[in-house]
Amino acid sequence: MCGIVGYIGNNAVADKLMDGLKNLEYRGYDSAGIALNDNQKIEVFKAQGKLANLKAVLLQNNISQNPSHIGIGHIRWATHGAPTVENAHPHISNDGNLVLVHNGIIENYKELREKLEQQGVHFYSQTDTEVAVHLFAEEYKKFGSLEAAVRSGLACLKGAFAFCIMHHNEQDKMIAVRKNAPLIIGCNQNENYIASDITALLGKVKKVIYLDDNEMAVVKKDSVIVKDIFGNIVLKKSEEINMKADLIDKQGYEHFMLKEIAEQPIIIRKILQKHVQNNKIILNEDKLNIDWKKVKDITFVACGTSLHAAMVAQKVWENWLNIPVRVEAASEFIYQKNLLNENSLVIGISQSGETADTITALKQAQNLNTQILVVTNRLDSTIVRYAQSVIGLDAGVEISVAATKSYLAQLITFYWVGLYVAQEQNLLSQDEIVSLLESFEKIPEQIEEILSHKSQIEEIAKQIKNYPSAIFISRAFNLPTAYEGALKLKEISYINANAYPAGELKHGPIALLDENMPVIALLEQDETYAKLISNCEEAKARHAFLIGIGGEKLSNIFDAFIKTPKTLSCFSPLLMCVPVQLLAYYTAKALNREIDQPRNLAKSVTVE
Ligand code: G6P
Repeated sequence: MCGIVGYIGNNAVADKLMDGLKNLEYRGYDSAGIALNDNQKIEVFKAQGKLANLKAVLLQNNISQNPSHIGIGHIRWATHGAPTVENAHPHISNDGNLVLVHNGIIENYKELREKLEQQGVHFYSQTDTEVAVHLFAEEYKKFGSLEAAVRSGLACLKGAFAFCIMHHNEQDKMIAVRKNAPLIIGCNQNENYIASDITALLGKVKKVIYLDDNEMAVVKKDSVIVKDIFGNIVLKKSEEINMKADLIDKQGYEHFMLKEIAEQPIIIRKILQKHVQNNKIILNEDKLNIDWKKVKDITFVACGTSLHAAMVAQKVWENWLNIPVRVEAASEFIYQKNLLNENSLVIGISQSGETADTITALKQAQNLNTQILVVTNRLDSTIVRYAQSVIGLDAGVEISVAATKSYLAQLITFYWVGLYVAQEQNLLSQDEIVSLLESFEKIPEQIEEILSHKSQIEEIAKQIKNYPSAIFISRAFNLPTAYEGALKLKEISYINANAYPAGELKHGPIALLDENMPVIALLEQDETYAKLISNCEEAKARHAFLIGIGGEKLSNIFDAFIKTPKTLSCFSPLLMCVPVQLLAYYTAKALNREIDQPRNLAKSVTVE
């Protein structure tokens, strides 16, 4: 989604801003802009579309010659108002002196806009953000100080925001403010940055200060002072960045998505080494501060791919832990009656840790006094604040918008946590655990085997690309994999893909089947197998292009078949997800899509 970068220091600011924005591109955006402050007047440059367009605007204006050393930049993912130049950030006040960039949504923007218009303020965009710039500018007229103007203006704003603000009369500082949207300060000698995501600062600074909600930082070239919204100084510690800059390098792969798919065996091996030792599951450095004896029911809340990981966890945990497990899309959870209490455990899953729906769901769970566990790939993210216990995914930064390695890391995490609880609460015998671990530990090499056949999957993808739609079917443990396969295919190839429990095919979706509809069946050789094959027969009888993914090809009805190594049914989602990721990837590639940054999508959706 939107991204913020601010810079103050001795170096040419435009380059610094463009560099930081480049590292944020992965979040998904549809326009971009920068503002420079220390010349005759504040200059704002914006462009619709990708950063290359903004770069062209900067070139036309000879910005490399610009001696400015303080500036702010933004990439925007449109919410209020189309992705046009007018709606792109930075937004500037009518007198041209105050300029800002914003992430989040100002909920009461309509009332504020009306009020400001009545006072004679002219609006030029359809954004909610523009009210903030005019509001702060009006306050500046009263206070003559940027800090005081922002503090006073903030009292009128409802919603979520991270702002980076500059004033032409105060060229020695930027103001950073956060409420329900992440913002950090990157600190160096004689230069400081503001950014909405640490990736913007990788390779540029070694230390960062994380702002908390309702905090405001006055960021100068050689100082950072953090205050609360009443103006009281808050002492903050800067923290070392422990991510490497090369994490956002494709390292020879054509796309981040392919690189991230290929990294999966390494990630899983690392997680297994950390948590499986001598036929036992151990916590290692992770803490699970959950009172399991109290837990009578479990609810997972998540969105998108994380929701599918929750669906796998539900099936596996109900088997192992013998406890009712519910899975709710976070956006639904927050608008329904949830019969939860102190005996409930709510588990929030979010790769980014910034997904607004999931965060709101956890806030509500807090009010219901449930225990809360968070599973995230970003231990520095907002969601962590709402957790009683947190487990990191150890998947490394995921750049491609379509989640792959974080999904597999989520699955692996739920397997080891489930096994750990079963072991500690004596829900599975030691023999059962040993035999499960035997299969579990083979997963990385089995994924490597699937990856080694990727060219065969590429060939099948070249056929899928010719169809306007596709259907995924499965049963039991792999139904979530079918949902994930359909999601991946639509996200990056824009082919309309849907997934159904195979038994549901005959209750409606079968009407869609003919020679123009590929059906992709995920087959597990367990008690569901015979029924699944019957469902495949039903599809074949309607001339569907039939693709099977699974163990042995025991039937000849398939037009194409992707073989996966043998494992226990409960672990098969770990293997099956890899061919569906590759199918989506190669189909999108065959269609020449923008794989890492698909249209309209954002890596983390920070609005509800
Ligand atoms: C967005 C992304 C999806 C992702 C979902 C949940 O919609 O495009 O790929 O699965 O958010 O993200 P989270 O970071 O909460 O797992």
